[in-house]
Formats: sequence, structure tokens, C-alpha cells
Amino acid sequence: MDHFLYRNGVMHAEDVPLTDIAARVGTPFYVYSTATLTRHFQLFEEALGDLPHLICFAMKSNSNQAVIKHLASLGAGMDVVSGGEYLRAKAAGVPGEKIVFSGIGKTADEMRLALTGGIRQFNVESEPEMQRLSRVAVELGAKAPITIRVNPDVDAKTHAKIATGRSEDKFGIPIARAREVYALAASLPGLEVIGIDVHIGSQLTDLEPFEIAYNKVAELTHQLRADGHTISRLDLGGGLGIPYERSNSAPPLPIEYGEVIKRTVGHLGCEIEIEPGRLISGNAGLLVASTIYVKNGEGRDFLILDAAMNDLIRPAMYGAWHDIVPVLEPTPGAEQAPYDIVGPVCESGDTFAKQRNMPPVKEGDLIAFRSAGAYGAVMSSEYNTRPLIPEVLVKGDQFAVIRARPSFDDIINRDTVPEWV
Ligand code: LLP
Repeated sequence: MDHFLYRNGVMHAEDVPLTDIAARVGTPFYVYSTATLTRHFQLFEEALGDLPHLICFAMKSNSNQAVIKHLASLGAGMDVVSGGEYLRAKAAGVPGEKIVFSGIGKTADEMRLALTGGIRQFNVESEPEMQRLSRVAVELGAKAPITIRVNPDVDAKTHAKIATGRSEDKFGIPIARAREVYALAASLPGLEVIGIDVHIGSQLTDLEPFEIAYNKVAELTHQLRADGHTISRLDLGGGLGIPYERSNSAPPLPIEYGEVIKRTVGHLGCEIEIEPGRLISGNAGLLVASTIYVKNGEGRDFLILDAAMNDLIRPAMYGAWHDIVPVLEPTPGAEQAPYDIVGPVCESGDTFAKQRNMPPVKEGDLIAFRSAGAYGAVMSSEYNTRPLIPEVLVKGDQFAVIRARPSFDDIINRDTVPEWV
């Protein structure tokens, strides 16, 4: 469910017609709905119910400070994967004790930043990382609270580029070696072991892989406790999928996911953390573009938009589907025709959809990509010297630009040309 609906023939974001935003900020732009962010966050709150828990929003999916500040105001913690994300979370007012630090390549500088600024825990992914974190903590006279990310060797049955829990993937420590690695962690002076972390992949549309992985984590909890470790926190990662193709997909609901968590690890007396990104921000955002040309090609028609692969890379990178709809509501029963929907970048990969059925579209028409609030703006670039596009946040009948479009001067002046050129 989201808050992007046709009203009086125009798609609205909550109570704001998208045509008003387009007139004010120009296209292309991202627009997010506060009400959808709230609703999706609360679905996870309800799903975890009275289990002691913290929902740490995966900031990699959408790290705009207005978005994270709103989620933090609802009680969210943050899952960060870089020093930059950590500083962004702090800048948005998120306290260190609600920030978890994930990622396989944390540098000593990033460790120092988080240890001095305050951190809930590091999710550690390798022995060398453990050694370095301990050293940095000792230097600072601190103890770093850690979970160790285990790799449960579970096939998440998702796109190969976003599966993370198989033994061939680069993430975590093989669960079979977990006991020896926990023993090493316990022997290091700068670390305080508090729990276990697992994340098996993203855009999961089946609960079974979660169930298998979380059962393995439950079994490991017993073993590690028997070995004398304190396991008081389980970070179960993110990954619950969303319906990108509404006519044809119905992924499991957060409440069903919550049942899996309760059934598998609910009895262990641990505080539960989850790190959802996509399910909170994905359907809370649209990318809105205008049609520059309708080009009649050889046996096919192209809609050439002013948005491109640099603005939304998911179709080019993963072959991802986004529902694409006109902003002006088509007349009921309007005949549909297939279009290739493309951007202006000089690569055939700059194609959002092939032979997609759409009601008739003409030059200047506004088009909206659904489910673009996660891994949209954050993955965009200025390829072809195309400025990063604005982000807009709507709440009821008000909207604000939460990241402005840079000017060409801003972009060009970022380069410096040495005098010897
Ligand atoms: N926690 C960890 C350790 C992760 O690696 C990820 C995502 C998440 C949480 C959040 O997963 P989510 O709930 O959003 O599925 N760019 C790709 C997705 C990459 C996901 C990477 N890790 C895409 O556009 O589909």
C-alpha cells in the first residue's frame, strides 16, 4: 500500500498533485510520501510486537536526512555501512546508541569515528576486521560492542547480485567456523561480544530462506552460550521484498515475517534487531520524468524520457522491473500500445523497459516510475554530466525539496585543473 493515487485525473503524492511538483521543481525528480514511510515502519513495529527489538533502517536504500530524521522520530535506529552514512545519521540527529555499523570493509578511520561518536554495535565480518577493531578500541581506551556476521550458506532465491548468504558470497564468517571465531573475539582486549548477525540477501519473496537461516542462528546461540559467550542480541538483517510488479506479485507481509522471527528465535530471550531498507522506503517513492520525444522506430516505438540510467540504475543493472504509469490518468478503456521506454544516455543499456504496454503517450507527458524510493536516488550518478535530480518529500498537502538539483556550475567547478595542464 502506498499514498500515490489518481485523484481528479492526476496522480497525487498524498494530497499533492504531481503536476504541481513538476511545475515547481522541473523533471526528473524523486518524490517520497511521509505517510508511506510511516506506515511501512509501523508494519515492522507491529510484526515484532512485544519482542524486545530495534528496527534499524538500512540507510543504503535511502539516506536523505529528511527521510531518516522522520524514521528516527518514529523510533527507528539506523544500519550504516560507511563513515559517510554514519555522519549522515548523526547529522539527522540519530544517537550513536541507535546506530549499527555493517559492512565487510570498515577502515580504522571509520572504526575510530564510530567509537568516538557512539555506536550501538559493529557487525564484524572477518577475523582481520576483528583484530583491527580491537586494536583501534584499545588505542582509544574503549571496548567495541560487536556481533559477528555469520554466513549460514542459505540460498535466498533472489537476484545473484543481491544474494549474500551463500558460502560463495563475500559476506560473513562460515557458520561452521563460528565457534572458533567467537573464541578469538572473546580473547581480544578491545572487543565485547554481545550477539550474532546474519543477512542473507535482498528482495526476498519467500520466507523459507529466512526460516532456515534464523533456525541456524538459534542453534548457534545455544552453542555459543554453552561455550560461555554472552549472546543477548540477534541482528537478523534486512531483505524482505516488495511487489515491484503489482499485477503479478504478492511477497510475504511483514506480519508473516514477524511470525518467522518469533517462531525461530523468539524464545531465546535476545533483543532482536532487523535492518529493513527496501520495504520501508521502496514503495514510498516515485521517480517522475517527462517524455522528450516519442520516436517511431523500426517495428517499435520509443518513449525517450528526460530520466536515464544515471538517475535510476536498477533496470540497467539488475534487469529490474518498475511499474511505469502516466501521471495523468488514462481514460478508462484507453487502448494500450507497447513502447520501449528509454533514457537519453548513449548506451543501449539505458533502457527502463522493453515493449511495455502503456496508454497513448505524447511529447511532454509526465511518467511515474513506481517503487523507486529504495536504491534509486542513492545509486544515482552524474554520468553524462547529468545533474543529480532533486528529491522531494510530501506530507499531506505540503511538499519540500529535500535535495536540490545542483547547477551545472556546481558540477563543473568540482573539477580542478592543475596549472601544468
Ligand atoms: N542489511 C545488510 C547487511 C544489507 O547488506 C542490506 C542490503 C540490508 C540490510 C537491506 O536490505 P533490504 O531490506 O533493503 O533488502 N541495490 C540493490 C539492493 C542491494 C542490497 C544490499 N544490501 C537493489 O537495487 O536491488
